[in-house]
Amino acid sequence: MSDGHDIRVYDSGAFDGRSAHFGREVQRFRHCLHQRPVFTDDGLIELLDRYPRQHIGVFTMGDTPDTWRRGRLGQIGGAELLERVRDGRLWLNLRGASEHDADMSAIRDAIFGETRANVPGFHPFRADAGLLISSPNARVFYHLDIPRVMLFHLRGHKRFYVYPREAGYIQPSDLENVARGLTEEEIPYVAGLDAGAQVFDLEPGEMVHWPQNAPHRIDNGGDLNVSLSVEFMTPLALMRANALYANGWLRERFGAQAGLEWQPSLAWAWKAPLAQALRKVVASKRKCKAPLPPSFTLGTSGLQFE
Ligand SMILES: [Fe+2]
Repeated sequence: MSDGHDIRVYDSGAFDGRSAHFGREVQRFRHCLHQRPVFTDDGLIELLDRYPRQHIGVFTMGDTPDTWRRGRLGQIGGAELLERVRDGRLWLNLRGASEHDADMSAIRDAIFGETRANVPGFHPFRADAGLLISSPNARVFYHLDIPRVMLFHLRGHKRFYVYPREAGYIQPSDLENVARGLTEEEIPYVAGLDAGAQVFDLEPGEMVHWPQNAPHRIDNGGDLNVSLSVEFMTPLALMRANALYANGWLRERFGAQAGLEWQPSLAWAWKAPLAQALRKVVASKRKCKAPLPPSFTLGTSGLQFE
């Protein structure tokens, strides 16, 4: 079992002259995690067999956001599950992989150890790594994430579109609703937005990191895809998330029209405690938002819709 110290993450020189821009602009880095045995077919099958089933998210989709469906896993072994992904239109998310598996936890620790060593002043917390195993031509629709995210691409090919965190690409009210957990992460999209996107054709051994909250979407290529989605907060990222949370409440309550909280401001100092207080009230009053209910089961005979 690895303890993380012998895991090499980045190619040498990957950060040369670039660390000052980490998280401030969209950047692509070379890494070597795709060479680890756990990401081979055999390694993935073993991982799927030992992984707690309740923490594997399973989804299918067509070509438009309204076709995104959550499912559940039936009785199906790791080898067959991997075959179903290879032949189908599926998206598996091994959620919290770094919490539930020692190999993944060692890889997460190596990622944050090496990133901290390369980026002065980088203080991540609430770090989590989820493993994504997805079908040829699968998609993730236009959305944004509240934490910061590094996407380590490991197998297959995908086209990654990332958009400016600016008016025209996100409405402040939509961003606030995601920050408050009132809506899913998907936000309105029209194809014309692609003109402003940065587009990356990702190869195994590449990582992309983008500014917090920047919208993005993914089109898989014609092969099986495996990526590690690594989320984290920093003190500034958490303050921004709190400011957005507070702005959403102030908009709902008083009609206040806040912006996208591009830049840190003095107001963050009072919005953070306001958000923390509101979270406590909400937690005591409201049951958790029900996730999209499952509409199919993935078992040995394929997808059974209910
Ligand atoms: Fe995302």
